[in-house]
Amino acid sequence: MGLVEKAKVGGSCLHVGCIPAKELLETAHVFRTVSRASEFGVETEAPQLNWGVTMRRKQTVIDQLVAGLEHLLKGRKVTVYNGVGSLGANRVVTVHRATDQQTLTASSVILATGSLPRTIPGFEVDGRLVMTSDELLSIQALPQRAAVIGGGAIGVEFASMMSDLGVKVSVIEALPQILNGCDRDAVKVLARSFKKRGITVYTSASVQGHTPDPAGQNTTVTFGDGNSLDVDLVVVSVGRRPNSEHLGLVGTAVGVDERGFVEVDDRCRTAEPNVWAIGDLINTPQLAHVAFAEGMLAVTDSLSEEPLPLDHQRTPWCIYCHPEVAFAGHTEESARAAGYQVVTAANRFIGSGRAKIVGDTDGLVKVIAEKNPDGTGGQILGVHMVGPWVTEQLGQAYLAVNWEATVDDVAAFIQPHPTMSEIFGETVLSLTGRSLHG
Ligand code: NAI
Repeated sequence: MGLVEKAKVGGSCLHVGCIPAKELLETAHVFRTVSRASEFGVETEAPQLNWGVTMRRKQTVIDQLVAGLEHLLKGRKVTVYNGVGSLGANRVVTVHRATDQQTLTASSVILATGSLPRTIPGFEVDGRLVMTSDELLSIQALPQRAAVIGGGAIGVEFASMMSDLGVKVSVIEALPQILNGCDRDAVKVLARSFKKRGITVYTSASVQGHTPDPAGQNTTVTFGDGNSLDVDLVVVSVGRRPNSEHLGLVGTAVGVDERGFVEVDDRCRTAEPNVWAIGDLINTPQLAHVAFAEGMLAVTDSLSEEPLPLDHQRTPWCIYCHPEVAFAGHTEESARAAGYQVVTAANRFIGSGRAKIVGDTDGLVKVIAEKNPDGTGGQILGVHMVGPWVTEQLGQAYLAVNWEATVDDVAAFIQPHPTMSEIFGETVLSLTGRSLHG
């Protein structure tokens, strides 16, 4: 078994994605908590940020996880070939290095080269005034004022992190809502929280360009209908594009669409026999856990097993801004658009004992279920959460949606007390027609 890797193992998730981003968001969480410690009777000085320590801690977490991966690969006797891989006919993989190259032939090949940040004209990335997530995650010092272009998952996570750490943040989003695709009621909670914390969100606004001041210390971003913003940093988070340019593929039947995604069937098979493609390289949700599931699908298919297909409509999503957002399955709108008669219920964390204890009560849990003739809920179609620790609470909601459980199935179970997850239990219970709080 061989793995061709041009840098260190771990990919975007470990080096320039999920792990460093969530590590910095945890720093923001600690800062926020210490800032209000006196509410709990814990007297402290106002917290000061030592960014050097923050960056070192982030790198330590990455290094430990990389070492863990290397250990796993060694234990499974996987040979790592350092270099840039390209695929040719008959499953011949060429590993290109600065001074030489090597060819490998395999009975099965999985393409998993991931994605790269998209950029937009007028905002060339210079690593100083204009950055993508790649650069921001290793920034030397935080700016005083930042404009985040794109209010998707990356945009809201960075906006939240920087704002908690004292940066004046503005988000400029082209669509009418940030986190497009999330349930509207959940997004409203997030938008309100952002506003309360001083994050300005401009929606339905397209950016035109930016003009650095002569000293190159800051820049003016122009957007919308004659608006402008003076900032010290522009973060471009407008999506990611598949990294398929250097795959070679000459002499193979592997198809690549006009956006650069490698084309696959529902078992991640390309058109070339015994060649699969997974992860951000194909047009499925760009999430590490989806790539992981696709990897298992491709491997089990290559072993002639009968893997279950993945249902991307029911993928779990977790976004680690404050308050957190997590969901699986249909939104109310998408369930109606899919032809379901729906009934919904929502409960707020303000009613949760645990949320009050923690002192973090902004948020709600919304459950979307198929409507029974008597008006009660049937099958659970989607669960959307915003609030404290919801990324850790999504698990049972994800299982309910994917097990096609009904409201009655789930309402029969006990939720431990006091936990945040009581809000999910209560919301499901209310759809049975026997709600706790009327
Ligand atoms: P995204 O596709 O989630 O969001 C990009 C946003 O930028 C969209 O709302 C889009 O309307 C907006 N946009 C595009 N062009 C624009 C323009 N010119 N001006 C203003 N707004 C513009 O992409 P993002 O946030 O860059 O993330 C990339 C991928 O990584 C996504 O698939 C995302 O889901 C995934 N990701 C997931 C995370 C999570 O699940 N916690 C965290 C970070 C990334």
